[in-house]
Amino acid sequence: MRLAVINLKGGTGKTTSAVYLAAALSRRGKTLLVDADPQGSALSWSDQAERLPFTVAALPVKTLHRQLPELGQGFAHVVVDTPPGDLGVVRSAALAVELALIPIPPSLMDVDRLRPTLELLAEVEPQNPLRIALLLTKVRRGTRSAAAARQILQEMELPVLDTEVPLREGFATTFGLSPLEVGEYEGVLNELLGEAVVS
Ligand SMILES: Nc1ncnc2c1ncn2[C@@H]1O[C@H](COP(=O)(O)OP(=O)(O)O)[C@@H](O)[C@H]1O
Ligand SMILES: [Mg+2]
Repeated sequence: MRLAVINLKGGTGKTTSAVYLAAALSRRGKTLLVDADPQGSALSWSDQAERLPFTVAALPVKTLHRQLPELGQGFAHVVVDTPPGDLGVVRSAALAVELALIPIPPSLMDVDRLRPTLELLAEVEPQNPLRIALLLTKVRRGTRSAAAARQILQEMELPVLDTEVPLREGFATTFGLSPLEVGEYEGVLNELLGEAVVS
């Protein structure tokens, strides 16, 4: 599978989701994580980690879609982590994949700021009819915000995954470490791959 983690807003959980999904995918086949963010968060994550179960390559360029077929050769799965602001790079990432995963925290501000991301994906669609999935991240347990955000997103007819990623210390503190437990991201991947969730 070729997927890009996209949200033009910063801090929504893109890099965390990209690293955890790459870790989950690496259990199924050889996986490449492409860091397309010029800030290089995924790359510095992998620099600090002793050993990751996947390969990381930095390619924060607008020609990603032209280079990815060659770069991804020999990999069963490719995950692209994208920057928040760099439209050219994000557009190129969207052109290079079959699936865009949009991580979004369940706040009204994040929902409100979703429009530029959706517009960019709609713009890419005629050239590359990619699938879109929204993932609620940083969900505070015992609060109503996730249900409220889910309802608004569904009213916008956006496909929201059933699996939610909770706000959890463990996700924030694994930077620079290899995710041994992928937690909810296993369920996210099952949904993305269309597999039945085994619990
Ligand atoms: N599920 C989570 N629980 C707790 N902290 C999280 C979670 N997901 C991301 N974070 C933290 O939120 C911040 C932004 O996440 P990050 O993945 O870097 O987002 P982005 O790549 O979209 O900017 C980071 O400090 C990260 O560690
Ligand atoms: Mg990031």
